[in-house]
Amino acid sequence: MALKLLTLELILALNLLKLELIIAKGGDMKSRTITFRLIILLVILNFARLAVASTAQSDPPPNFGPIQPILYGECLLCHDHSGNSTSPIFPRLAGQNELYLEKELKAFREHTRRDPDAFGYMYGPASSLSDGKIHLLAEYFSEQTPTPNSPGNPDRVKNGEVIFKNGVPANGVPPCYACHGDSAQGNDFAPRLAGQSAGYIVRQLEAFKRNERKEAATMPIVASKLTADEERDVANYLQGLK
Ligand code: HEC
Ligand code: HEC
Repeated sequence: MALKLLTLELILALNLLKLELIIAKGGDMKSRTITFRLIILLVILNFARLAVASTAQSDPPPNFGPIQPILYGECLLCHDHSGNSTSPIFPRLAGQNELYLEKELKAFREHTRRDPDAFGYMYGPASSLSDGKIHLLAEYFSEQTPTPNSPGNPDRVKNGEVIFKNGVPANGVPPCYACHGDSAQGNDFAPRLAGQSAGYIVRQLEAFKRNERKEAATMPIVASKLTADEERDVANYLQGLK
């Protein structure tokens, strides 16, 4: 962006120079008006460039020297540097439990998390991370403040809340809050689910069902008892939680 503005400014400045030469040679009123307009444009562009520069500077400095190039060069492309991705493909990492983030990054590096998106998106970025860097990345994202996601589909939220709070006793599904916390905020044992994108949650429940997340404790059993509709209901409820 800043570079584009700079190029535009250069082009304008060159045109200005040309017009000044024409005027110096006894140019007409029309050339003078064009010159004036170009000067105004240059001033506007300069302001725009300053604005771009100041927003770039207001990005929070991560204060993690060793991981800064990885964060800005890789992770932020998909997860946003704040960890609050707005796409249902990329999970939100902000405010996620640090131990969980660390465990998952190692599971991607060691290929024990085997769902298609793990393979497709995360094996690459995780492959060259040392334990030390994984620790710092997990710490960084766990300390970011989660921002609210958009509310889930209202047709699904109501039943989703019932599943989250009561489970589905008839089919032996335990209430999710029992492990994930009253408002799905997560804890040392289970990850945060509040505000996580519904699309991502459904894909993980499917992955648990196919047993593609080997270190998933009891989740494969919980997920195996949920119907496809119940998965979507509870996922939409969770997306709207703050
Ligand atoms: C090309 C896009 C992309 C990049 C780059 C990327 N990720 Fe991911 N990340 C994903 C996707 C997609 C998933 C979901 C994988 C799945 O469904 O198994 C994911 C999952 C994760 C998870 C698991 C979250 C959870 O709730 O279980 C963590 C932790 C993570 N990424 C951290 C990182 C870090 C740290 C970096 C930088 C080193 C990074 N990612 C770079 C796309 C990306
Ligand atoms: C007995 C405890 C327990 C119960 C009950 C439970 N979970 Fe979990 N859940 C976990 C644990 C532990 C993990 C972390 C799994 C891992 O380490 O891979 C998890 C992981 C998840 C994940 C993956 C999160 C991510 O970021 O990838 C989702 C989605 C999930 N649970 C949804 C649910 C839903 C929906 C319910 C209720 C129907 C539920 N869980 C009930 C313990 C539980």
